[in-house]
Amino acid sequence: MQPDRVVLIMGNTIQHGRSSNRVYLLKLGSSPDVAARSLSDIALAEGYSKVIAKVPEVMLDAFKAQSFEEEVRVPNMYAHRGDGVFVAKYLMPERRDEPLGSTFESVRILAQKKANESCKELPAGYAITPLQKKDVPEIVDLFQQVFKKYPFPVHDAAFVEQTMNEGTHYWGARFEGQLVALASAEVDSGVKNVEMTDFATLPEHRSTGLASALLAEMESAMRTMGIITAYTIARAISPGMNITFARAGYTYCGRLPNNTCIANGIESMNVWSKKLMAL
Ligand SMILES: CC(C)(COP(=O)(O)OP(=O)(O)OC[C@H]1O[C@@H](n2cnc3c(N)ncnc32)[C@H](O)[C@@H]1OP(=O)(O)O)[C@@H](O)C(=O)NCCC(=O)NCCS
Repeated sequence: MQPDRVVLIMGNTIQHGRSSNRVYLLKLGSSPDVAARSLSDIALAEGYSKVIAKVPEVMLDAFKAQSFEEEVRVPNMYAHRGDGVFVAKYLMPERRDEPLGSTFESVRILAQKKANESCKELPAGYAITPLQKKDVPEIVDLFQQVFKKYPFPVHDAAFVEQTMNEGTHYWGARFEGQLVALASAEVDSGVKNVEMTDFATLPEHRSTGLASALLAEMESAMRTMGIITAYTIARAISPGMNITFARAGYTYCGRLPNNTCIANGIESMNVWSKKLMAL
């Protein structure tokens, strides 16, 4: 199945499709009332079971008025506009059910227990480096090896290049020259936040500290760019991913139930955030 498509509707950047079986407001335009209505209209027309929207807290009332509920709150997500809130609406009640809920809780607890452990030193032979357009074929190849399914078409070189043009910065870990892990920083410079995302490490190089090293490098670059808040939307089932963020000092903000088509199917996602510098 193709990843869900991203469309611009009345100034709102919206992703929707059968793969995640949802409508997702990625970026709000100027009218929250219009946005909240059109999200629900698309979901009803297409028969999707979840609507999720990422909005500044100052716009929350418009969504609550249309039966959206707060699911996760990210402190200071929008510079000068306060917290960011993920609000959701379920068109089929069973979409909320999480049979793996207790596993997600164990992963979160494990991650928070490990929060004070220090990260490993990068082993010999590995180097962390920013990735450029010339690296796109290797980026796509790595994504193809790590993810059977992904919410965005990262298996497509043209898409990855487009994200680079639109302000996403990629970093990679190379072992003896070969790209073995990567991650990206999706910057929203207008509101000074960044989503730390797209973490992928080849199986034979996991648990060597590469995700942590990539995250540290990306944070340092983001501080240089004046970015204030970093957040991530991490697979709730993944100990490695949650441990990586907890150990880097991120705070757990909550879980988005059955939210995203990734890896094998629709999964619940944990949101973590960190203030990188003072406003
Ligand atoms: C998630 C992922 C990127 C982590 O990458 P990584 O390079 O292995 O991460 P790191 O080595 O920096 O850190 C992972 C930590 O989690 C620990 N860990 C991983 N799985 C674990 C498990 N099942 N139980 C306990 N600890 C676990 C590792 O041991 C390591 O901790 P350590 O340094 O104390 O040994 C990698 O597992 C991956 O590519 N997974 C598939 C793709 C994916 O799910 N990406 C995330 C999308 S949100």
